[in-house]
Amino acid sequence: MAHPRLESCLALHRADRLVEAEAGYRACLADGIDAHLPLSALLLQQGRHDEVVALLEPQVATHGDNANLAINLSIALRKSGRNDDALRVARQTTAQAPGHPAAWNAQGLAALESGDAETALHAFEQGLRLAPGQLALDLHRSKALRHLARHAEAVQVLQRLVASAPDMLEAWRDLATAQTALGQYQAALKSAERAMRLAPSDAEVSLQHAVALLHAGQTRVAIQRLEQLQADPQAWVWLAQARLRDNDIEGARAAYEHAAARDPDDPFIRHFMAALGGELPEQVEADYIRKLFDDFAARFESTLVDALAYSAPKLLPRFLAAHGADDANRILDLGCGTGLVGAALAAAGRTIDGVDLSERMLAHARAKGVYRELHAAELLQFLNGTRLCWDLVIAADVFVYVAHLAPVFAAIHSRLEPGGWFAFSIECSDGPDTQLLPQTGRYRHSPEALVRELAAAGFDQVQRETLTLRMEMGKPVAGELLLARRG
Ligand SMILES: C[S@@+](CC[C@H](N)C(=O)[O-])C[C@H]1O[C@@H](n2cnc3c(N)ncnc32)[C@H](O)[C@@H]1O
Repeated sequence: MAHPRLESCLALHRADRLVEAEAGYRACLADGIDAHLPLSALLLQQGRHDEVVALLEPQVATHGDNANLAINLSIALRKSGRNDDALRVARQTTAQAPGHPAAWNAQGLAALESGDAETALHAFEQGLRLAPGQLALDLHRSKALRHLARHAEAVQVLQRLVASAPDMLEAWRDLATAQTALGQYQAALKSAERAMRLAPSDAEVSLQHAVALLHAGQTRVAIQRLEQLQADPQAWVWLAQARLRDNDIEGARAAYEHAAARDPDDPFIRHFMAALGGELPEQVEADYIRKLFDDFAARFESTLVDALAYSAPKLLPRFLAAHGADDANRILDLGCGTGLVGAALAAAGRTIDGVDLSERMLAHARAKGVYRELHAAELLQFLNGTRLCWDLVIAADVFVYVAHLAPVFAAIHSRLEPGGWFAFSIECSDGPDTQLLPQTGRYRHSPEALVRELAAAGFDQVQRETLTLRMEMGKPVAGELLLARRG
């Protein structure tokens, strides 16, 4: 039974009379009545995290066995930017009070904040074992799953959550995000609409809804919504993308200029500004590519293969066989992505190595179990830094992200065994040697120019075959497969 004075403060707190409750808690403390826990809860409720740290740090140092105080301290430390301390306090608490679900929750949140999603997931699952079905723990578990790119599992958890708590805004928002990551755009739009109904004036919810409309193909409506959200720098980027999709090049440029004024170093904005300005960046834009494909990894295969009929993994092996280039034992797959082409070329007695900038794409490739080694690296740097040689080097749908191919061709030539093969696909430019398309952000190359560059690098026996690389906005993308041999 709490002290009667503390009881009356708790009643004020419950009645939301926070100023009076706080004054009462502080008076209790001054008179030696322990009010640390409810006062810290009140301060947390008001986002006064530094004050919670000042209040609880000495207490936890001397009464380290009070799990509730330690949990509140861990939360406040995390929210005031001292995440390492938050994690340390939470770990001590779960070690001393392993039967306390909130302690596991605090540990999971601190681990998630420090980027250790595996540890976070384990902590939330420990908490859920003690408190099955607890909403906050389940929501946080789904966040850890999303960080691990386990979006399908996150969707299952979140669908259960919104079924049992239909007013849980964060769950609807996270569900929309996870569904988008899986390419389930219509479902994501429905989830975003539910979030909008719960928080119609929340700017972040409105942006997510507008983006969901864009993904779901409702370009014009998305543009209208985005035009109303211009206070948010991200809204300018999405508005630019939406206008590009609507072929409004000048409108897109204006929107990117606004975005660039706010965030001039963003690799995505820089890339598209270059594309709109008709520039060809000198260097490979590694940050842009990494970000693009890390974000895309979970839905890459369902989008490319299932929705866009991406053909290179099927056609490349046939093309190699048609030209007698299918007998290689050691293959290097440049820009291997999720390993679609590696899987198509895998055969007994063969080794396939892969290189890619995106760790998340590589994680999918690793799971296929067909690669000997996988390297997270920019392909030209990798080629220039290795002494290994291969019988066949392939690059499927990769040079659409590389403007200048002459140095790449020279590096590949030097890493091929004499008589070795080099096969790759391109999107075809019908005009200049290299074009950067603002609508897609990808490069198109002229096959004739590349044939000259292959010869300059020392390749011969160049073979070419036209193909439809994939669909894009309902139209086929014209491409070519090229094969060349190191003499
Ligand atoms: C469209 S995906 C194709 C993946 C795979 N080759 C396939 O056919 O399924 C392009 C991949 O190339 C990678 N990539 C693009 N430019 C790269 C570079 N300069 N160095 C390394 N990887 C690159 C991307 O990260 C991405 O995974």
